[in-house]
Amino acid sequence: MNLDRVIAVRNTKTIYRDGDKCVKVFNNNYSKADVLNEALNQARIEEIGLNIPKILEVTMVDGKWAIVSQYIKGKTLSQFMKENKDETEKYLEMLVNLQVEIHTKTCRLLNKLKDKMNYKIMATDLDAITRFDLHTRLEGMPKHNKVCHGDFCPPNVIITDNGTPYIIDWSHAAQGNASADAAQTYLSLYLGYDKNTANEYLKLFCQKSNTAKQYVQKWMPIVAASRLIESNEHERDFLLNWVNVVDYE
Ligand SMILES: Nc1ncnc2c1ncn2[C@@H]1O[C@H](COP(=O)(O)OP(=O)(O)OP(=O)(O)O)[C@@H](O)[C@H]1O
Ligand SMILES: [Mg+2]
Repeated sequence: MNLDRVIAVRNTKTIYRDGDKCVKVFNNNYSKADVLNEALNQARIEEIGLNIPKILEVTMVDGKWAIVSQYIKGKTLSQFMKENKDETEKYLEMLVNLQVEIHTKTCRLLNKLKDKMNYKIMATDLDAITRFDLHTRLEGMPKHNKVCHGDFCPPNVIITDNGTPYIIDWSHAAQGNASADAAQTYLSLYLGYDKNTANEYLKLFCQKSNTAKQYVQKWMPIVAASRLIESNEHERDFLLNWVNVVDYE
């Protein structure tokens, strides 16, 4: 394997290109179970007819776990948005169209979003009363089984030169309520871009999926809480504000 070409460096992993392959190498302290779960999610999603890079191999590189997939030549939606700031609406529309398509799919063997959220809320350092309240609210939300990407945002969409979109990074995929997935995207856009972009996204999502905005908003505190354990300091303050939002009216 030739790992000279680094595509992206994250705290816990590095992504390389090796010819027509993409190699995602995880740091030594990354959970083996999480690597295998990501690969399994990707393999399951391949089977349901979405445009994603095919998984080729799960292997070890210098003692580190690595997932090898097809390399998708193109640019991420986040690169397009950065380069064409006046065309944000067009790109948000592409983002929403793709997300709505994901939500038309089911995949019975994926993890359950509700289980993941309960587990992640339990693992936070929020006080017991807040956790109890969040678990209760989560339990009261409608039970759906749509495919949810779980981290659906512009860096996780690659558009090829001929305009074909590919959806990458299925580490957080689960089956559950599409509005929870939309709340997740809303928070990502708010954090990664700004409030206007997030609101514009939410408006488009609600239009195209025929969903009431309040319904997505009801998920915000639950989704924010379930992102806490993976957050950095800056994200943490932002998410904590959302955990404490009780009423939007
Ligand atoms: N199969 C692929 N083909 C081409 N580029 C890829 C591929 N997979 C990942 N990349 C590039 O590497 C970046 C990070 O990959 P990925 O999203 O899988 O990792 P990540 O750990 O989730 O990163 P992030 O924290 O940004 O979401 C992507 O935004 C994309 O630019
Ligand atoms: Mg990603």
